[in-house]
Amino acid sequence: MNSTVKVVPLERVPTPLLAVLVGTLDDKLPTSLLSLDELLGDALSRAVAQRDFTGERDSTQLFYAPRGPRRVLLVGMGKLTEITRGAVRRAAAVAARRAIGLGVDSIAFHVPHEFRGGVTPETLGQVLVEGAMQGAWQFNALRAAGEKKPPLKNVELIAAREERPEMDRGRTIGQAIAIGHKLARNLQALPGNICTPEYLANVARQLAKAYGFKVTVMNAAQLQREGFGALLAVAQGSVQEPRFIVLEYRGAGREAPICLIGKGITFDSGGISIKPSEKMDEMKYDMSGAAAVLGTFEMLGQLKPPVNVVGAIPATENLPSGSAIKPGDVVRSHFGKMIEIVNTDAEGRLILADALSYVRRFKPACVIDAATLTGAVVIGLGHHASGLMGNDDQLIEEVRLAGERAGERCWPLPLWDEYREQNKSDIADVKNSGGRPAGSITAGWFLREFVDGFPWAHLDIAGTAWTDKDQPPMAKGPTGVGVRLFSEFILGRVRG
Ligand code: BES
Ligand code: MN
Ligand code: ZN
Repeated sequence: MNSTVKVVPLERVPTPLLAVLVGTLDDKLPTSLLSLDELLGDALSRAVAQRDFTGERDSTQLFYAPRGPRRVLLVGMGKLTEITRGAVRRAAAVAARRAIGLGVDSIAFHVPHEFRGGVTPETLGQVLVEGAMQGAWQFNALRAAGEKKPPLKNVELIAAREERPEMDRGRTIGQAIAIGHKLARNLQALPGNICTPEYLANVARQLAKAYGFKVTVMNAAQLQREGFGALLAVAQGSVQEPRFIVLEYRGAGREAPICLIGKGITFDSGGISIKPSEKMDEMKYDMSGAAAVLGTFEMLGQLKPPVNVVGAIPATENLPSGSAIKPGDVVRSHFGKMIEIVNTDAEGRLILADALSYVRRFKPACVIDAATLTGAVVIGLGHHASGLMGNDDQLIEEVRLAGERAGERCWPLPLWDEYREQNKSDIADVKNSGGRPAGSITAGWFLREFVDGFPWAHLDIAGTAWTDKDQPPMAKGPTGVGVRLFSEFILGRVRG
């Protein structure tokens, strides 16, 4: 997909679809839309006067023009006080979904100044492109036949002359993030028989080749030598060999890197502690954290910001078999602590423990992990926020604010000392499940046992990584959560 900023009167934009994003309207059109209204024979003002279109959130109204834009789509963003970068992104996504439905391959956006809220031209450029690509996303790679809508090829942002350079800067950022977001969703959508640990490693290798990153992929023998006992324990029930994938982006010389870790369970059956079969297919999404890290590296390659970032992905399947780990088994982690595996379905924390231990060698400025870690976080926060934990309140707040800007909410859960007790093992240093009470927090505490020497934040994305119902701005399926949050976090640090 290509995106551009254009300075051209609305009534003369040569596009199959012009989306005009507006807030709630009383009964009058803002003056900046009057010439467009004239082109449409007053159809806009009549739709507004008759209150067929009021500008409420997610509402749309389509018009046909005799010349200039072939179609005009009014898209509602809700009350003026509610127009934020999130509202603009959402409306852009709603419009792009409509564009795909109509089968057009090009869309132009305009947001009249009356409806900008406090959103700057730069941010506007960014979130319009992010929203457009979010709404236009389709996954057809595994369909041999049947209906396929043409992809969206062109996104045009209609600007006033004086705001053009700023909007274009935002457009560049938005496009880089959107390409990463799309990669993450495409990877998430792939089933476990295709998206294996080696497949994820190949994606990392391709990114490294395309953008000049350093990449390291460890196989089982190397993991053995390096002492990745917890990752190997999870992997031992599968015929798919595990991988530990490390990507290094260097944009700022010798500065301490930001380190991102993503859970890469390419399928989670639960292992010997097997899951119920209902909806078990959704456990192909258990590599969503890994997808978020890979998507973020695509953004880095596109944008090349002055910062250092390390991405680390422990990748394996979790399957039952004659060689699988059993409840009660004790293994030695990379960190050195002995872990009693009381539940083989609490595998994510095992592979993350080794990753958290390994990244100490990079002397990171901070470490953030993203993982579809617990069903409990879905009970606690539902599908509207990721769980956020860590060992550093300042970092936690920085991550929360990045999520706010990204439209990927997260909410803090406390890692109070009292919860730590639940992970005490009778025979080893720690056990991998603290039982049902506060399941997301005890999982967070388990990870913390393997954190040493850096500020760390953990995102439990089990409730936000995919959606099982179609929503106005987002098709059913993978959400690509994490890419935008990581990107905002990184770019926020660059801005200082
Ligand atoms: N991948 C799952 C968590 C999950 C559940 C993600 C539902 C998305 C939706 C994780 O590996 C898991 O199985 N966690 C267990 C932990 C328990 C055994 C302590 C859980 O949450 O039930
Ligand atoms: Mn599990
Ligand atoms: Zn899992």
